[in-house]
Amino acid sequence: MKKKAPRSVTVSPPADAPDFRELVRLAKAARRRAHAPFSHFAVGAALRTRQGEIVTGCNIENATYGLTLCAERVAVFKAVSEGLKRFDALAVVVDSNHLAAPCGPCRQILWEFCGDLWVRLETLGGQRRTFTLKELLPFPFDARNL
Ligand code: THU
Repeated sequence: MKKKAPRSVTVSPPADAPDFRELVRLAKAARRRAHAPFSHFAVGAALRTRQGEIVTGCNIENATYGLTLCAERVAVFKAVSEGLKRFDALAVVVDSNHLAAPCGPCRQILWEFCGDLWVRLETLGGQRRTFTLKELLPFPFDARNL
């Protein structure tokens, strides 16, 4: 039988992508603080401003499930609540055989607060891929539509 192609593969980042090492290190640390007793799927994120400040996030689940916050949104909202703006890079780390890209609602929030930032996805096993948010959300709705 033919083997299925893997869903996630490591692809070299574009030449103009920034250095993600510190962001990934901090996203891994944040992942360990995930509150995920329902899915047992821990996610860590780290968001960097253009000035170099880094804010982390982890997913925080809830017994109603629907109130769960993804790691990416926790990072964005923490940063915004601290008065930070103008972001340029985000790292998202999971412990899985597949890279985890931000969900649809997170892509929208990231777009509205961060614009076209660099997004690095990594697994603990060493898979990695780098995208721009524009690639992940190519035709966004935002305040300019209103
Ligand atoms: N989750 C994230 O935190 N970020 C993602 O990019 C995908 C999903 C969380 C939400 C939930 O706590 C768990 O992962 C399973 O969906």
